[in-house]
Amino acid sequence: GFNKAAKSLSPKRYFGTAADIPGTGENQDPYYMAELNNTKDFGQLTPANIMKWYATEPEQGVFNYTGGNDFLALAEANGQIVRCHNLVWYNQLPYWLTNPTTNWTAATLTAVMENHITNLIEYWGDRCYAWDVVNEALNDDGSWRETIFYEVIGPSYFDIAYKTAQAAVKAKGLKVKLYYNDYNIEYPGNKSTAAQNLVKGLQSQKIKIDGVGLQSHFIIGETPSQATQESNMAAFTGLGVDVAVTELDVRSPNLPPTAAQETQQKADYQSTVGACANTQRCVGVTVWDFDDTYSWIPSTFPGQGYGDLFFQPGGPDTPLVKKVAADGVI
Ligand code: G3I
Repeated sequence: GFNKAAKSLSPKRYFGTAADIPGTGENQDPYYMAELNNTKDFGQLTPANIMKWYATEPEQGVFNYTGGNDFLALAEANGQIVRCHNLVWYNQLPYWLTNPTTNWTAATLTAVMENHITNLIEYWGDRCYAWDVVNEALNDDGSWRETIFYEVIGPSYFDIAYKTAQAAVKAKGLKVKLYYNDYNIEYPGNKSTAAQNLVKGLQSQKIKIDGVGLQSHFIIGETPSQATQESNMAAFTGLGVDVAVTELDVRSPNLPPTAAQETQQKADYQSTVGACANTQRCVGVTVWDFDDTYSWIPSTFPGQGYGDLFFQPGGPDTPLVKKVAADGVI
């Protein structure tokens, strides 16, 4: 299994998956659940949705921890560590926050953001191995993404978010790692450089940032080479932060994939897992769910899919078949 292999490495790395528990169907699928609970394969879990803002603060100042608690309880019963995801993102926000008739000012929205961050970090504490504090703050050209936080507060929202997170960590004496998480920063380019500049900006103000999450939503045959991923990881770790592969999947741009694409997919998975294994401060690899049946990909990219480690040839509630034998890769 992945984690058995990972244990032979120094430092030890985790291999994990995102999941929706409680979810819309996967948590009633005994075959899906058996694999999720297979700690030989998964030593770490990430909640795919249940800790996001819409779920955790559905009304202003009214927090709902139920789903997150259920998720943590499942992971803890298995001894799986949890990357908590996420605190500040432009997507999946509650309506009270995005409602255009709410006239936020920089001061009122900052207070709302600070309250959300502080509340969740303090509530879940060290049950979270790490938090993605800000998620996807950048456009692909490296400029700021024009989110509600950017528009209302300005670019300082980013530093304020980490300063707030750091204060919560300090107030409770926590060990939780604070991450920045984004996609298309897995290879050198404007966006990766901009992410490095975000890290440097925090560091220059002595604000805590422990790691950068490289999401790694890739396409078969277009995955950056292992060498490219390693040199990109080195650019981050050279700043003194950890890196983690946080949302790995390798989708086929056409369905069904050809036999050649199926072979290439295995090589693509190996490039990313291998890059992490060769990088001292790459702490682990998380796939963004492990079963095509419940993958986010087909609804976002119609006609594409087949991106995960397993599929269910008989449909939901039937046995899983492993496509990518990631065993032995790390
Ligand atoms: O909860 C509602 C349900 O009540 C309703 O019946 C159903 C009908 O469509 O929708 C459900 O909400 C869906 C939600 O997932 C929870 O299942 C949304 O439609 C759907 O858009 C949402 O998708 C999530 C997506 O983020 C939103 O952008 C995916 O599950 C989740 O895997 C995905 O994860 C993101 C990471 O957080 C950040 N990086 C990219 C990654 C993939 O997009």
